[in-house]
Amino acid sequence: MNKNILIIIFIIFITITSIILLLIIPKKYTNKKINNNFYNIKNYKEKNLSRYENYSKHNLNLSKAEIINRVNLNLDYKFYTHTKKANNLNTEKILVNKYYYLEKNYIPNNLEMINDGYQKGRLTLVHEARIAFESLASDAYNKKHLYIRAISAYRSYDYQKKLYNNYVKNDSKENADTYSARPGFSEHQTGLSLDVDNIYTDYNNFEKTKEYKWMIKNCYKYGFILRFPKSKEYITGYQFEPWHYRYVGKNIATYINKHKITLEEYIQKLEN
Ligand code: DAL
Ligand code: ZN
Repeated sequence: MNKNILIIIFIIFITITSIILLLIIPKKYTNKKINNNFYNIKNYKEKNLSRYENYSKHNLNLSKAEIINRVNLNLDYKFYTHTKKANNLNTEKILVNKYYYLEKNYIPNNLEMINDGYQKGRLTLVHEARIAFESLASDAYNKKHLYIRAISAYRSYDYQKKLYNNYVKNDSKENADTYSARPGFSEHQTGLSLDVDNIYTDYNNFEKTKEYKWMIKNCYKYGFILRFPKSKEYITGYQFEPWHYRYVGKNIATYINKHKITLEEYIQKLEN
C-alpha cells in the first residue's frame, strides 16, 4: 500500500478515536470546574456550583459543607422566589413548600372522608394517609386512651386562598407568611397533611398535651412526620407547628425520625 494512503488512514483513525473519546468521557472529568473548592464535599451538585460560590461570598462564616447543604435546599433564594411546579404528584415524595407549588386545578387522586370518630367536620385525605391516620388515632385511643382528632386535612387552592387572605387582612402579610402558606404552596393541597387537636385543648396549645408527646414518639410508625419542627424554621419557612403532620409512608418517616431532618433535607439527598 502506498505510504501516503497509510498516513491518511492513520490520521482518519486518530480523528475518529478522539471524537469518540470526547463524547464518551464523562463531562465532569473534562470540565475545568473540577478544580473548584466544593468538588470533594458531600452532597456537591455540579449544577449548583455558581450558586455555592456566590452564596459563600456573602456567608463567610459558614463552612463549605453548610454552604452546599443550604444551597441544595434553595436557601440562597428568598422564599417564594425561583418557584417551580412540584414534582412527584400523587406520591408520598411530593414536596410542596415555599419553592415548589401546586397549580390551582390540582386535586389529588383518591381523596376519602376520614372516619367521623377521628375528625371534626367533613375532612378528607388521600386513601393511604386516611387509612394510616385512622389506625394511628385508633391505637392512641385503644392503647393509651388519648384523643387525636383531625381538625383540618385536604384543602383546595381556593380554600387556602381564603384562609391566607384572611390572615393577611387581620395580621399583616409579614406575620401570615410565618404560619400560613400562600395558595398553591400549602401542603394541605396534597391531601397528605393534616392538623390535629385532642378535642379539649385549642390546637395552639397542642404542644402541652399528652397527645402531642405520644405523636412525637409514635407518629412515624404510621408513616407521619412532624412537618414544621422547632429550630428548622430557616429550612421550612414556617414557625414550629406541633399540630401539623404529613404522611410520607413508613420508610421515609422512619428515616426522617431517626436522622432528625426535615422533608426538604430528605428530598434533596435523593436528587442529583
Ligand atoms: N400552616 C401551613 C404552613 C399551611 O398553611 O399549609
Ligand atoms: Zn397544617
